Amino acid sequence: GDGGGKGAKGKRRAAITKNRGRTYTNYQVLRLRPTTDEDVQELKTLEDEHGLEFWSPPVKNGTSDLMIPPDVSEYLREYLQDRDIEFTVLTNDLEAEIKKQNPKPKSKYSEKLLKTDKGHPLTWARFHRYKDILDYLDYLGSTIPDLVKIVTIGKSSENRPLKVAHISSGKRKDAPAIWIDGGIHGREWVAPSTALFILKQLTENYNTNKAVVDGIDWFIMPVANPDGYEYSHSVDRFWRKNRSKNPAKRYEDYYDEARYGRFFWGDDAETCQGVDLNRNWDFHWKEIGASSSPCKPTFAGDRPFSEPETRAMSDFIMDRSDQIKAYLSLHSYSQMLLLPWGYTKQNPKDYDDLMYVGRKAVEALQRLYGTPYKIGTSPSLLYPTSGSSDDWAKGKAGIKYSYTLELRDKGTHGFLLPASQIVPTGRETFAAIKTIAKHVVNTS
Ligand code: ARG
Ligand code: ZN
Repeated sequence: GDGGGKGAKGKRRAAITKNRGRTYTNYQVLRLRPTTDEDVQELKTLEDEHGLEFWSPPVKNGTSDLMIPPDVSEYLREYLQDRDIEFTVLTNDLEAEIKKQNPKPKSKYSEKLLKTDKGHPLTWARFHRYKDILDYLDYLGSTIPDLVKIVTIGKSSENRPLKVAHISSGKRKDAPAIWIDGGIHGREWVAPSTALFILKQLTENYNTNKAVVDGIDWFIMPVANPDGYEYSHSVDRFWRKNRSKNPAKRYEDYYDEARYGRFFWGDDAETCQGVDLNRNWDFHWKEIGASSSPCKPTFAGDRPFSEPETRAMSDFIMDRSDQIKAYLSLHSYSQMLLLPWGYTKQNPKDYDDLMYVGRKAVEALQRLYGTPYKIGTSPSLLYPTSGSSDDWAKGKAGIKYSYTLELRDKGTHGFLLPASQIVPTGRETFAAIKTIAKHVVNTS
């Protein structure tokens, strides 16, 4: 009867929501090398094309990675050849790569056993959901309470708790502090896993890392954008922003092409949600390298700190700005250590100090597996951006050593870095961060 019918429908709906919503079959990633200002201007117009997305914006004599749907592939290749813009193909079928990246747990049963065995669900062999990450934080807080305290600093726009692990052994009075965040961008999965790996080393392996734990307080926020992170697991693998809803009124503004670019009803309305949490900070907000269009991946928001995530982080950091000596933000990909400023080509007064410590950090990182890293400012190595967290940490909170780390790799897998690289990436990044930490201990 009726009841049975509803039941079946309900089941089907559940099955659909379980699968990732957006698929990327035969989507390609092209690496472009524009060499003239005209090329760059040309390429920028592609941004408004349906389904195309720059993973890094075009800059003259730099490389720019562009994701394209299969139906524009032929047209686009001709377009690039006509204009003599050099390109290589990084990926031919993103969906196939997505399927390979993150191995499923062998069985629910074996993961359950593992969890009762260890007390938490993290395997370090795959990228876990936010729920597992929260379980791990609770596990640390309840098993090593003298060393780790889990602080809830706010709620995301979809009401997920925003959590920071505070590590303090209490061995040094007035200890300086280091802040680390990961996952400001949803799709950059290796950033949260690396923040968690560092958290594990500092706590579960306290005995081997006493030098940097006893002298320093650590604030680690493994997932700064849990809504975007979850959305990139459940719906759209390449989601970058948070998931805040733009005011209903804005739907009319979407028709204002001059202001917002093209807007598509239907599927693409989805992409008009969310704010880029690395363009929303209150320092030279929206001056450069940020979008005014809610439908774009680098939408800066309606005003600085419009988002609960950036507000919670900045309030927490500002309250401790005298104590915090280093601000480290983990992103991916491109293997770079970036230092301020991002919004201008001018260098800060103490640029040499930051380069000196940064070089030491990169040397330590490379000693492990030889992973090549570049070091410099964002406008010199990548592209300028404004309203980013690293600039704010230095410019507004007065934190001297402010860095953004773009973790592995250089584009072979990009955001789809295989889970087998979680541990080596964690190890080398920890080596770099320990070097920064030792410098902080010795100078404060
Ligand atoms: N990939 C990062 C982004 O686009 C780079 C940020 C580096 N920092 C900066 N201030 N530009 O957000
Ligand atoms: Zn990022």
